[in-house]
Amino acid sequence: MKTQRLLADAGDLENPASKQSIRQAAEILRGGGTVAFPTETVYGLGANALDARAVAKIFEAKQRPNWDPLIVHVADVAMLDALTVQVPESARRLIEAFWPGPLTLLLPKNQQVPDIVTAGLPRVGLRMPAHPVARALLQAARVPVAAPSANTFGRTSPTTAEHVAQDLEGRIDAILDGGETTHGVESTVVAVSDEGCVIFRPGVITLEQIRAVCGGEVALRTSGLPGEEVPAESPGLSLRHYAPRARLVLIEGEGAEQQAAFGEAAQECEQQGESLGLMLPDAFQNAVIGRTARVFHWGKWSDPEQLAQRLYAGLRWLDAGGATVIVCPVPAGEGIAVAIRDRLRKAARR
Ligand code: TXA
Ligand code: MG
Repeated sequence: MKTQRLLADAGDLENPASKQSIRQAAEILRGGGTVAFPTETVYGLGANALDARAVAKIFEAKQRPNWDPLIVHVADVAMLDALTVQVPESARRLIEAFWPGPLTLLLPKNQQVPDIVTAGLPRVGLRMPAHPVARALLQAARVPVAAPSANTFGRTSPTTAEHVAQDLEGRIDAILDGGETTHGVESTVVAVSDEGCVIFRPGVITLEQIRAVCGGEVALRTSGLPGEEVPAESPGLSLRHYAPRARLVLIEGEGAEQQAAFGEAAQECEQQGESLGLMLPDAFQNAVIGRTARVFHWGKWSDPEQLAQRLYAGLRWLDAGGATVIVCPVPAGEGIAVAIRDRLRKAARR
């Protein structure tokens, strides 16, 4: 299969070339094909969510097991209403506060949604993306679009069209290239009922933000740590995921101690003759002076938004450079740092 490359300028969707790309991509989706497209979080691999045969192509291209459900992207709230049986009041409030944006709501599905989309589960994950290219595409396609991250199953998510091509060139119909994504980590996945909210995947919209709007209990139930309970309600979030090819060594902790541990781990890997890659935030530079390593300058340690935005690009770049081991400090704190920790810990699983 030949994968078409379509360009859309996120800053100028009115120009004729961008319009043409959006139109073509929408045609492919309406015709039952697969298109990778940018969202504000990561690139997604889309297909018409109402067409089970089209959705099957996503699983095939990604080599994704059929028990792992897909998020459905909608252009407006009317599309959400057409796919669900009942939307609780707290979900309406979350939509009001965070849509369009990086929040996925798990809501009871109706029979419009093919079982393949939800892997047979009773709820469907729904989100309205904020990225201008994604919005234009959904409006042009006029169908809900099922889209997981556009990477080979289990691997690092893509934040550029190039990353998508690395994994899926020749396996999908088109890549709609709208430049680098904004946030760099995925949406927050939340199950909403009248009793409260359960977060299955921490993401760009933080626990604190959801608490402020949801009302009732807000629980965090991710299996971010080995040995933690695996939530059967959201099976895909349990495994090794987001992973580079290289072995990933995480350095937890805080302050001077964490910096010293980072330096020691780097030295150890170098002495073992490994091809060392470093995820290197500014605050950790002094700890690794003199080491021979491929270095990804991750960004400002005090700026978790920037660390999130550059996380996957860094892991992919070190992988591509032939690193056999990647040493990476784990950010502490709340907010989007929770999502960074979740992704790193899952990526480090063996
Ligand atoms: O930011 C994002 O959410 C990106 C962009 C492309 O929208 N999408 C994304 O999709 O990260 P994916 O498939 O890589 O991760 C979504 C996860 C799945 O692994 C699954 O476990 C959970 O969300 N999920 C999706 N639908 C679900 C459902 N109906 N019930 C329970 N969990 C669900
Ligand atoms: Mg994914």
